[in-house]
Amino acid sequence: MAREVFEHWVDVYELMVDWPRRLEREGPMFRRLFEQTGVRRVLDTACGPGHHAAMFHQWGLEVEGADLSQAMIQRAIALHGQPPGLRWTVRPFQDPTPEPGYFDATVCIGNSLALAGDHQTAAEAVRQMFRAVRPGGLVVIQVLNLWALPEGKLCWQKCLAAQIGGKPKLILKAVHRAGQQVFVDLLLVDLADAEQAVQRAGPSPGQYESGRSAPPGQEDRAPGTETARSNPASPVSLPWQAQSEVLLGFSVEQLQQMAHQAGAEKMLLYGGYPDQPYQSQTSKDLILVAWRSENLALGSLRSVSGRV
Ligand SMILES: C[S@@+](CC[C@H](N)C(=O)[O-])C[C@H]1O[C@@H](n2cnc3c(N)ncnc32)[C@H](O)[C@@H]1O
Repeated sequence: MAREVFEHWVDVYELMVDWPRRLEREGPMFRRLFEQTGVRRVLDTACGPGHHAAMFHQWGLEVEGADLSQAMIQRAIALHGQPPGLRWTVRPFQDPTPEPGYFDATVCIGNSLALAGDHQTAAEAVRQMFRAVRPGGLVVIQVLNLWALPEGKLCWQKCLAAQIGGKPKLILKAVHRAGQQVFVDLLLVDLADAEQAVQRAGPSPGQYESGRSAPPGQEDRAPGTETARSNPASPVSLPWQAQSEVLLGFSVEQLQQMAHQAGAEKMLLYGGYPDQPYQSQTSKDLILVAWRSENLALGSLRSVSGRV
């Protein structure tokens, strides 16, 4: 079953990412790797709304975008269409592609592998990524470097206001790490309903207390000028929805071992785009760039995965 957040909160995911900026930052590294490897056919597995897949297609490549979430694939089709050479498929990354070795490259980015649920499924997904490419083909896996997150403490990452379904909404995102897992919490507050609820309830502290917290003496309004605040009416309970996800953490060794067992020959590690060196305590990302062994026959990969 697709994760709730990616099945029902496609709009929220879309809004949380600055796509032009992200593609500008990430694109050049993929372009260079594709050119180095002579890539013509790309599988973007866990493609989400398909912005990377569409960018690769614009570069003249044949691309398949696959995702577990039907809603994500529908959004990808709505955004990018289905021109020749760009196709979309609902398929989990741990399932085999119909034609082993068809692609020259597989990418699995945006921390998608962390959604595998357990390490066994993640290992199977990595096996299928290598199985999908020809010998010498390229596999790029990007996950968050969770070791840069402080243990236990909640880290607020986003506070955005945006229109969703024609209504103003507030989106809050927080993450926290507990050992080898990361928990992501999203909160969506309907601002139109909130405004009405506050007005119905009259002046109350709730109207002002859910915003950015400024140190005493640095409030936006001069202290004592808000007559509303002096009224000790009950706070208003605002309408909100929440989604939480558990993300798997991967160490460098785990990722490398999964790739090695899947048939990787040469591997490189990066800590961010483009080509940033990986440093476990500070890097934002953990990016594995690997090439499938030239010598490993497709048949032996099949017996390793035991799936076909
Ligand atoms: C954070 S989004 C990343 C999307 C895109 N790759 C990007 O970089 O923006 C994670 C995506 O992984 C998908 N996903 C989660 N579990 C999956 C699975 N088992 N197989 C395929 N896709 C999966 C979700 O539906 C979602 O679209």
